[in-house]
Amino acid sequence: MNIYDYPTLYDVLFSDSWKREIDFLKTALRCYCNISGRGRIFEPACGTGRLLWRLAQLGHHSVGLDLNPNAVAFCNKRLKRHGLPESALLGDMTHFSLNDLQQKKTFDLVFNFVSSFLHLTSEPAALSHLHAVAEILKPNGIYLLGLHLLPQGNAVCSQEQWSVRHGSLALQSRLRRLTLNRQQRIETVEFRITATTPKQHYKIIDTFPLRTYSLQQFRTLLKKVNQFDILETFDFNFQVPVPLNSQTEDVVFVLKKHLV
Ligand SMILES: C[S@@+](CC[C@H](N)C(=O)[O-])C[C@H]1O[C@@H](n2cnc3c(N)ncnc32)[C@H](O)[C@@H]1O
Repeated sequence: MNIYDYPTLYDVLFSDSWKREIDFLKTALRCYCNISGRGRIFEPACGTGRLLWRLAQLGHHSVGLDLNPNAVAFCNKRLKRHGLPESALLGDMTHFSLNDLQQKKTFDLVFNFVSSFLHLTSEPAALSHLHAVAEILKPNGIYLLGLHLLPQGNAVCSQEQWSVRHGSLALQSRLRRLTLNRQQRIETVEFRITATTPKQHYKIIDTFPLRTYSLQQFRTLLKKVNQFDILETFDFNFQVPVPLNSQTEDVVFVLKKHLV
């Protein structure tokens, strides 16, 4: 089962955090890009576009890309329902160009929260993605990249659970690591959703690989790309700057593309 084939459930599951994510995006546009009006924004691995439609509603030119046809269809349907351009495209975030995104102008800001970048399970794929992002960003443009880093030692968080209720639908979810291979830099993760309505009770269980990064490994990757500087780092609530050290786990990197 592919959990992303269930966009309605996914969207409800991640529905709680949109306000702080949108606030952060607005602040980032203002502070890092000097834009208080309409920005050009791209989200690779946009999923259901739970943030894209809100950005579009605020007047931003918002474009998304995702590998999952169900997620893209869900995203475009919602954009259409709100009278907004259907700007989500089906595609792989490993390789893309302005042309693929049906754009003539570069973007001010790219964002990719909730560790979607870790779905790129090889170094060539990760490098290719970062080069593609640099290519579609204007000089001095910003990439906001949220990642779960693997800290050194054994004190590693291996499970996360949360519950959400939306009308008569109750969702419980659990994300847990099944295997971790630090040499090959691959972890296998199980994502389980239990959905309960007055008439139904069912489970969706998906297992997928993610690439792991220590802070040092992420820095080394950025160095190889040689197109971005780390401007700042925040926690996943976008509240406080996160100190970078070998124990850092959840971090949103504010990456600034080089001027030339
Ligand atoms: C955790 S979801 C994040 C969705 C969205 N960014 C959000 O914040 O809700 C990860 C998404 O990455 C997409 N994905 C995984 N690998 C991808 C790839 N190579 N290219 C494009 N999208 C990909 C999945 O289809 C899924 O929609």
